[in-house]
Amino acid sequence: MSAQVIMLASGKGGTGKSTVSVLLGAALAARTNRVLLVELDSGLRSVDVIAGVCGKTVYDVEDVLCGRCEPGKAVVESPLYKDLYVISAPYSGGHISQPALRVLTDAMRPVFDFILIDTAAGIGAPFQAASGVCDEAVLVLTPDPVALRDGHIVADELFGCGCPRTRLIINRVPRTLAGTGIEDLDECIDTVGVQLLGVIPESAEVSRAAYSSERLEKNCLAARAFAAVAKRLCGSQEPLVIC
Ligand SMILES: Nc1ncnc2c1ncn2[C@@H]1O[C@H](COP(=O)(O)OP(=O)(O)O)[C@@H](O)[C@H]1O
Ligand SMILES: [Mg+2]
Repeated sequence: MSAQVIMLASGKGGTGKSTVSVLLGAALAARTNRVLLVELDSGLRSVDVIAGVCGKTVYDVEDVLCGRCEPGKAVVESPLYKDLYVISAPYSGGHISQPALRVLTDAMRPVFDFILIDTAAGIGAPFQAASGVCDEAVLVLTPDPVALRDGHIVADELFGCGCPRTRLIINRVPRTLAGTGIEDLDECIDTVGVQLLGVIPESAEVSRAAYSSERLEKNCLAARAFAAVAKRLCGSQEPLVIC
């Protein structure tokens, strides 16, 4: 077993990277994959709440990257999603370097099928470190002009630093795009200039599950959309838009 390492990135903040990291990780895990989710967004952590590991963490990713503990000691299993494991970000600060992150991913590759790295918005240290160790980047955008413009900048940066592959998830897509400043989903793909991996709807079930540390309802539209993205990441053909 050698895990595929996938980083989640965005230009603008708040597009749903952490939410998508957990729920996509859960969908991959539901396909009998062992999934490790590493949160690199120090200070703005939310993966722990969404994955239900809040308060269960003894060591965080900073401890691992500084060599204060073995990577395995910082891994916590999600009580909500079987086979999803989390290494949380610290509450504040922390130095993230690419060589240290590579030591972590190299140690974990034999143990997992997928390693998802949830980065911070923009092209700061978490982005730089993760883009150098990943096999693929997933850009998470919302359908609004600022997210698209910033997403295009990040896509260029990923291309420039030699990231092997970049695909796009359009998240929080409302029933109608009227009033968003976006004509249609093709405009998102054309503006950012990367291949579409999936579309996740705006979903009350997702926001409820996220803020209350509960499992996402199994058969809601968003759960089916995450399952379809997971299937595509595993190499199957699935429709891009679930409705
Ligand atoms: N598909 C969705 N439907 C509804 N709310 C969502 C969805 N995706 C994310 N959110 C909400 O958007 C907000 C930002 O999400 P988050 O994952 O923290 O973004 P980021 O990690 O990019 O900063 C959170 O309140 C989250 O619950
Ligand atoms: Mg986040």
